[in-house]
Amino acid sequence: MSHILGIDVGGSGVKAAIVDTENGEFVSEKIKYATPQPSNPKNVGKVLNQLIDDFSWKYKVVGCGFPSIIKDDICLSAANIDNSWVGVDLCRYFEKTTKCRAVFVNDADAAGIAEMNFGAGRRKMGTVLLLTLGTGIGSGLFRDGRLVPNTELGHLLYKKSVFEHYASNSARKKKQLSWRAWGAELNTYLNHIELILNPDLIILGGGVSKRFDFFEKYLKVNCELVPASMQNNAGIIGAAIMAK
Ligand code: BGC
Repeated sequence: MSHILGIDVGGSGVKAAIVDTENGEFVSEKIKYATPQPSNPKNVGKVLNQLIDDFSWKYKVVGCGFPSIIKDDICLSAANIDNSWVGVDLCRYFEKTTKCRAVFVNDADAAGIAEMNFGAGRRKMGTVLLLTLGTGIGSGLFRDGRLVPNTELGHLLYKKSVFEHYASNSARKKKQLSWRAWGAELNTYLNHIELILNPDLIILGGGVSKRFDFFEKYLKVNCELVPASMQNNAGIIGAAIMAK
């Protein structure tokens, strides 16, 4: 069974599609709902059930990307999702709520897995970092193709808070920054990342990666820098691959 439903729970949207895990392609339409507010387990559960219905997926296995640190299935952080998730056993919660079994993985780790398997990171050795620029900044770090899970490089300290409050796509929108102004913040962030990690390749993901040509000229890094080839679909695809 290579077709798996992948779900990507994000701070602003919950997206899903059935993925062919042999080639990373969608074999269904993609369905997206706004993340309910407050984004607590009860409200998000309604959206998850709706998606299971939309795809007639009851009693089957699901891969789910989730915007938090996840260890032994337990949600350990909640930067862009309701705080009441912290401490929840995500797999148990999912099975109880939807009657489907699920594999949970950090959303940026999922996006990285997709890009490493079928996208911009394919066959890339060395240190590869996938950054998702969305509501927050997520990071998926790989060394010679192996994931180092649960890195939180959007949370490196910067100015009075953390980098994701300055260089994420939501920061650009909220502060109505020009591409040049936002590009400067993103460049500061990437330079900081380079200083501490020395990656060989940085892949920029998230919805804004499809506009890479708008801000590429403001970014000056030493390593190779490319946009994600699956853009905002990578999280869905990687979650499905993990479940497989
Ligand atoms: C969370 C990460 C997540 C990222 C992208 C951050 O705020 O802490 O776990 O990967 O947002 O959603």
